[in-house]
Amino acid sequence: MKIKWINKLKTLGLSLLVLSAVSSGQAQEDGAALFKANCGACHKIDKNSTGPKLKGARALWEEAGEGDLIYEWVKDPVALIESGKSKRAKEVADFSKMQMPPQSLTKEQVKAILDYADSYEAPKKKVAKAGTAEVKKEEPKTNYVLWLSVFLIVGLVVIYAAVSVKKLLLQAVAEKEGRELEVGGTMKERIDAWIYRNWKLSLFLFIVVVLAVCVDLFQKGYSVGVVSDYQPSQPIKYSHKLHAGDMGIDCKYCHNSAQKSKTAGIPTTNVCMNCHRMVPEGSTTGTEEIAKLYAAAGYNPDENDYNRDAEGNIIEGEPIVWNKAHNMPDHVFFSHAQHVNPNTANLDCRQCHGDVKTYTLGRVSTNEEINELAKTDNNIIALEKPLLTMGWCLECHNKKTVDLTKSDYYNELHERLKNRPDVMKRILEDDKVTVRELGGWECAKCHY
Ligand code: HEC
Ligand code: HEC
Ligand code: HEC
Ligand code: HEC
Ligand code: HEC
Ligand code: HEC
Repeated sequence: MKIKWINKLKTLGLSLLVLSAVSSGQAQEDGAALFKANCGACHKIDKNSTGPKLKGARALWEEAGEGDLIYEWVKDPVALIESGKSKRAKEVADFSKMQMPPQSLTKEQVKAILDYADSYEAPKKKVAKAGTAEVKKEEPKTNYVLWLSVFLIVGLVVIYAAVSVKKLLLQAVAEKEGRELEVGGTMKERIDAWIYRNWKLSLFLFIVVVLAVCVDLFQKGYSVGVVSDYQPSQPIKYSHKLHAGDMGIDCKYCHNSAQKSKTAGIPTTNVCMNCHRMVPEGSTTGTEEIAKLYAAAGYNPDENDYNRDAEGNIIEGEPIVWNKAHNMPDHVFFSHAQHVNPNTANLDCRQCHGDVKTYTLGRVSTNEEINELAKTDNNIIALEKPLLTMGWCLECHNKKTVDLTKSDYYNELHERLKNRPDVMKRILEDDKVTVRELGGWECAKCHY
């Protein structure tokens, strides 16, 4: 009997021992996992984010003589603040407007998290420092034609000088010998003679001129060809796919003037900062790209505040210079409001820009892509003329019909047209009203 009891107690004790050893070992190993599951949404280990960084947090509480209270904090921050017994809790409460919610974890688990935080070493990776962001404009292309012209002019000047010097010398020699300098033949004969004598130089100049013309023509042809499928590089690797696609942010959140004015507008840094004050890191580019945004906004993520001068005004960095993808010539008038406002044409952005939700950076779409969308979407029509050319504007104005009953804007237009039975009859011959019939082909509508 006795032995049995002793054995039972022994096994019980042993298993308890094993259990506690296992669980404490596990708690330590799981510091990383516990952190991720419970704290990662608001805390970063070695950077402030929504909450303060956790590496070294315990030391701060110990310095304040409150090493034990940090566990009470995590269990219930509000209770600790309200108890008034912790100085550190009061300080920390001012960190942000947000209140950390209570965490139902054991002291061991919290200890495991803090151990993990204190022993954490950041993996070495390139991180762009705030303030060093590059917001340069795209490098201009070397202008070959300009350089060749300069080269050619310099060449001609040198030849002219050489010829004049030679002539002067000959003249001097002739005078000394007391005879007339013979003038040989007409201008053409002299040029021919010169070319004949300097045939190597002449051939070289000829090739240079031909090359210059070819390069010039090539460049012209090239710049006409790239109006579609054009995606310039940008100072920050912004992604429409991520923001407008995956996150589903409305185009108008960033291009908010599209419905009310001529231009759609590119968002200011402030629009980005509405979210990015809280989001210092992206899933593919880490902190590198967003650091450039912070540099431009003058935001210091470690301080959780903007850089400020003595009076408290924000000191902004170099502004971000986005490169334009679309660029109408100055003599053309194009208004977004006219085309996208629900009261007027109410066109889908995709009709002219393609499926921007799938792009990274902004780009000029192609006819093929948009015509593909038109196959499955009744709101989009297929167009043959190359995107952004005059023919393209005219083709759509000729094909696209407008519903004169759908808004006050058209009602008013309709009323005015009723006073012109001749126009009205012509317009309504086919029961359809196109933009062209409303004046969309008049030169002055699109040209200043
Ligand atoms: C929903 C967001 C959120 C979550 C989740 C969260 N915290 Fe916090 N934490 C904060 C905020 C915000 C503060 C700053 C104090 C305040 O404003 O309440 C803070 C402060 C702290 C502090 C004080 C830091 C210092 O410098 O003194 C510690 C320690 C802490 N949190 C630990 C944790 C741990 C451990 C977890 C996970 C078990 C966690 N927090 C989960 C938001 C959060
Ligand atoms: C979070 C902000 C944001 C959202 C949302 C957004 N964009 Fe953009 N968009 C930008 C920025 C910044 C640029 C300039 C950089 C670039 O070209 O990528 C830009 C550029 C563009 C350009 C190219 C402009 C040019 O000619 O240089 C087009 C077209 C465009 N966006 C259309 C859209 C459409 C359509 C949507 C909705 C599906 C949309 N954007 C949603 C921020 C945004
Ligand atoms: C009828 C065709 C058309 C539609 C529809 C259209 N755009 Fe545009 N968009 C253009 C043209 C043309 C330009 C070039 C304008 C210029 O260079 O002056 C442009 C330029 C832009 C730009 C560059 C900045 C600017 O304003 O010049 C952005 C951003 C943009 N569009 C966003 C949008 C968004 C967002 C929508 C949908 C709400 C939209 N566009 C609908 C034709 C269109
Ligand atoms: C509505 C909120 C919101 C706005 C507005 C916003 N962003 Fe973001 N952005 C996010 C979030 C959230 C992430 C992180 C998502 C991820 O990487 O999974 C992010 C990620 C990024 C990234 C990193 C992408 C990666 O994959 O690493 C860059 C760069 C970026 N944003 C730039 C900008 C710029 C520039 C603007 C302003 C034109 C802007 N964002 C506006 C919410 C926003
Ligand atoms: C996909 C079709 C489409 C394309 C492409 C298009 N437009 Fe339009 N446009 C419309 C529609 C629809 C209206 C009618 C809106 C209205 O009645 O207010 C319109 C109206 C206009 C008007 C006002 C006409 C009037 O009678 O007051 C101007 C100006 C204009 N467009 C310029 C352009 C220019 C410039 C381009 C090319 C860069 C262009 N549009 C490309 C569909 C298009
Ligand atoms: C619906 C708008 C629209 C109407 C109407 C329109 N144009 Fe244009 N026009 C454009 C656009 C857009 C361009 C620029 C095309 C480009 O850059 O490829 C252009 C370019 C031009 C050019 C310069 C061509 C070049 O190579 O740069 C001339 C000249 C011109 N238009 C004359 C006219 C005349 C004349 C009329 C009237 C019969 C007219 N346009 C009506 C939109 C229009």
